[in-house]
Amino acid sequence: MAVSYLKTAIVATIAAGIGCNAAVLDKREIALGGGSDWHKYVRSPATSIVKPKAILSANTTGDVANPNGLLDSHGSPTVLTRKGSDDKVPSMVVDFGQNVVGIVSINFAGSTNSSEGFPGLKLAFSETQQFLTNTSDFTRSDNMPEGEKLTNGTDQIAVSNDPYTWNDKTGCQYDTKVCSDGVHGFRYMKIWLDALENDAPYAQPYGSVSISNIELEWSGYLGTPDTFTGWFECSDEDLTQWWFDGVYTADMGTDIFLANETDPRDSATPTLEGKEVLFDGAKRDRDPYVGDLGVAALTSYLSHDNPDSVRNILADLAEHQRDDGWIPPASINNYTLNLYDYPMWWVVCTVDMVMYTGDTDFAAQYYDVMRKTLDNYYGQNLTSTGGLLNKTNGYGDYAFLPRSGVITYYNALYAHALKSAAKLADILGHGTDRDTWSSRATEVDEKLLARNWDASVGAFYDGGPCPDKPGDTICDVHAQDGNGLAVLAGTVNSSLATSLLDYYGKSTARPYGNAFYDNDSLQAGFSQRVYAFISYFELAARFATKGAAGSAYEELKRLYGWMSTHDPEITFWEGIGPNGSPYEDGFTSMAHGWSTGIVPLMSNYVLGVKPTGPGFKTWEICPVTEGNVTWARGQVGTPHGPIKVSWSKKDSDGFELHIDTPTGTSGVVCVPVTGSKNEQVYVDGTKAEAEVSAATDEPTGAAKVIKTSGGAHEILVSV
Ligand SMILES: *[C@@H]1O[C@H](CO)[C@@H](O)[C@H](O)[C@H]1NC(C)=O
Ligand SMILES: *[C@@H]1O[C@H](CO)[C@@H](O)[C@H](O)[C@H]1NC(C)=O
Ligand SMILES: *[C@@H]1O[C@H](CO)[C@@H](O)[C@H](O)[C@H]1NC(C)=O
Ligand SMILES: *[C@@H]1O[C@H](CO)[C@@H](O)[C@H](O)[C@H]1NC(C)=O
Ligand SMILES: *[C@@H]1O[C@H](CO)[C@@H](O)[C@H](O)[C@H]1NC(C)=O
Ligand SMILES: *[C@@H]1O[C@H](CO)[C@@H](O)[C@H](O)[C@H]1NC(C)=O
Ligand SMILES: *[C@@H]1O[C@H](CO)[C@@H](O)[C@H](O)[C@H]1NC(C)=O
Ligand SMILES: *[C@@H]1O[C@H](CO)[C@@H](O)[C@H](O)[C@H]1NC(C)=O
Ligand SMILES: *[C@@H]1O[C@H](CO)[C@@H](O)[C@H](O)[C@H]1NC(C)=O
Ligand SMILES: *[C@@H]1O[C@H](CO)[C@@H](O)[C@H](O)[C@H]1NC(C)=O
Ligand SMILES: *[C@@H]1O[C@H](CO)[C@@H](O)[C@H](O)[C@H]1NC(C)=O
Repeated sequence: MAVSYLKTAIVATIAAGIGCNAAVLDKREIALGGGSDWHKYVRSPATSIVKPKAILSANTTGDVANPNGLLDSHGSPTVLTRKGSDDKVPSMVVDFGQNVVGIVSINFAGSTNSSEGFPGLKLAFSETQQFLTNTSDFTRSDNMPEGEKLTNGTDQIAVSNDPYTWNDKTGCQYDTKVCSDGVHGFRYMKIWLDALENDAPYAQPYGSVSISNIELEWSGYLGTPDTFTGWFECSDEDLTQWWFDGVYTADMGTDIFLANETDPRDSATPTLEGKEVLFDGAKRDRDPYVGDLGVAALTSYLSHDNPDSVRNILADLAEHQRDDGWIPPASINNYTLNLYDYPMWWVVCTVDMVMYTGDTDFAAQYYDVMRKTLDNYYGQNLTSTGGLLNKTNGYGDYAFLPRSGVITYYNALYAHALKSAAKLADILGHGTDRDTWSSRATEVDEKLLARNWDASVGAFYDGGPCPDKPGDTICDVHAQDGNGLAVLAGTVNSSLATSLLDYYGKSTARPYGNAFYDNDSLQAGFSQRVYAFISYFELAARFATKGAAGSAYEELKRLYGWMSTHDPEITFWEGIGPNGSPYEDGFTSMAHGWSTGIVPLMSNYVLGVKPTGPGFKTWEICPVTEGNVTWARGQVGTPHGPIKVSWSKKDSDGFELHIDTPTGTSGVVCVPVTGSKNEQVYVDGTKAEAEVSAATDEPTGAAKVIKTSGGAHEILVSV
């Protein structure tokens, strides 16, 4: 279908139940994908006990008998033997088949001493083979000050002679010797018979060890098919699989906050202890940061009904608000890590939570926290800085960027946060705040456009001075964060949005995504670095801008295509560096919830389902149908029950949409029309009345059908 998006709006009112007969409903049930086809894409382990998938045979060294024995607990064990220093160190690499998280346990069938003391085993963990050396790619101890470190990157065991099961608990087998780090996020585990000199006499580098079984006790959210309250499928199998991969990535980071398993840098806090939270990463950044939730929380709401993992964080950070209104980004450094943008993300995430879960009580409880951060922390200095945020302190942001001044991203995010907050103020009946925040947002929009728009390329400048020319000047660099957010915040109209997206795409495209800067003036390497996190906002901007969805798909193919085909595959990375490498080498978290934007992109834009009132009391179903995807179907969970959607393009210029929404809810449905020929829209078999409206700026360029009630409906566009 050649969609040209004339500004024709078709408005119709659907009365509940019109045209529903049993035969039609059966067909609709099928169209809505009532079956379980999508279960095959789910990546979660089937149970919380996870077994390794393989031994990497090319990487076995020394005397290792029956290396595959430990894969099958019923067969004979794997035996590692080293009699003395002349023998090679026996070592092997166990592959869990995909990135996993939890506590490893080993069933030993026994051991034999070769010298005085039990034979020692050492373990190293890594998410990728590239960074699996004789030390782990990362352990919690790596983030501990010298003197508090439990290990130097390997976990140690002194293997007893009698059969027993060892669990990788945080701590030491003997006082301060033979120590282990505890929880690991990893795909590969290296095992070798050896011992630290310091662990003598308890563990020795010689002897023989028999392993009958290895398991991992999964510690993340076990996202088996029965836990999905939302799902997504479309004609492109890669996009479908990446949706489920994104969910798995966020599930790996959804875990109980425990002092001995979280980031050790003064993050342990009694107010989160024992509560479920959505951590940033499974291996590293085991602390929940509120900016990351700007994406990760959406992934959670759109896949599982588990909002406590988000609510616990928002509540805890609100309780730690500083007197001037600033909200800490996380518990790290005892709630003192100075980030400039994260308090605004707290606002956005809190409003998102209300819209997805309907928890207006939470919003009412913390409403003053929101007001104080918007008005006191950010609002107090606007007049003296010409109506825009001017960062003059040394605070960092989501990527600790070396920038200050009138930055486009901070201001576009401020406008976005103010508009979100105004929506919430309206819901809670605070009309004065609604009006104040809306007009302040509009002022930020106007002033930002006037100051930071670079007409020579047709995109926003980053906005601050170059590092070598401080003061009130503008460096000739353009960033993904500000440009993407400005579109989503509504700072620019659709023609400027088209312009900036065109410029941004053509100046930053890399084989592994779009770089987050078009230039290295701020720091070497920035024009080669890709964050899936901040790419989400640019990608969402593409789906929200007429004619740009094709470029969104093209970018998604590079970004998620790259990560899904490079070790460890399946899970999505914290950041991508030059040549598509993990951007901080082994330190990089290869399963980071903030990189799961594929999930909201597909559910909110391609399926088209978004809440427009608290807890989906009202909603919109406005699928983006541009691009190569020919059909999509799926479900979004709401507190009132599921919203089910299925759409497909017909061969001869037609379109079919089936929806089923909960009773007692209502919303807006959009279908695409070309505006050419004599297109007709039928709602449940009845021709919808058409009316030409004035120019609307409907992102999908689609005709609108106003619904008044929930239930099952079929909407057809035919020529
Ligand atoms: C092996 O060494 C340990 C630790 O010194 C000792 O307790 C154990 O008795 C020894 N085993 C044998 C069979 O000698
Ligand atoms: C395993 O061996 C292969 C081939 O030598 C090598 O490329 C790979 O890096 C090794 N992996 C590990 C984890 O050592
Ligand atoms: C790494 O461990 C292997 C045994 O797996 C050993 O042969 C090698 O010497 C070790 N390398 C270093 C640098 O310690
Ligand atoms: C780590 O290695 C350093 C340097 O070899 C050593 O001083 C320190 O004691 C080690 N720490 C632990 C916990 O093994
Ligand atoms: C951390 O402590 C809890 C008890 O507070 C325990 O259940 C858990 O296994 C410990 N985790 C590790 C990795 O030791
Ligand atoms: C964290 O900060 C609070 C408030 O300033 C203080 O009372 C507490 O002692 C601090 N905790 C640690 C572990 O430093
Ligand atoms: C606002 O101005 C005060 C006083 O100059 C300063 O201390 C504070 O850091 C400024 N706040 C922001 C968010 O820029
Ligand atoms: C932002 O603050 C810097 C440092 O105080 C100052 O030089 C600059 O003029 C300010 N810019 C605006 C637009 O207020
Ligand atoms: C979009 O905004 C720009 C800048 O304000 C303006 O020049 C242009 O006419 C607007 N375009 C449309 C289609 O409204
Ligand atoms: C960055 O911008 C400067 C100034 O416009 C230009 O000279 C330089 O070539 C650009 N560098 C890159 C990597 O685009
Ligand atoms: C869409 O389909 C066209 C024609 O088959 C193809 O050239 C293009 O690469 C596809 N785009 C994407 C993003 O897959």
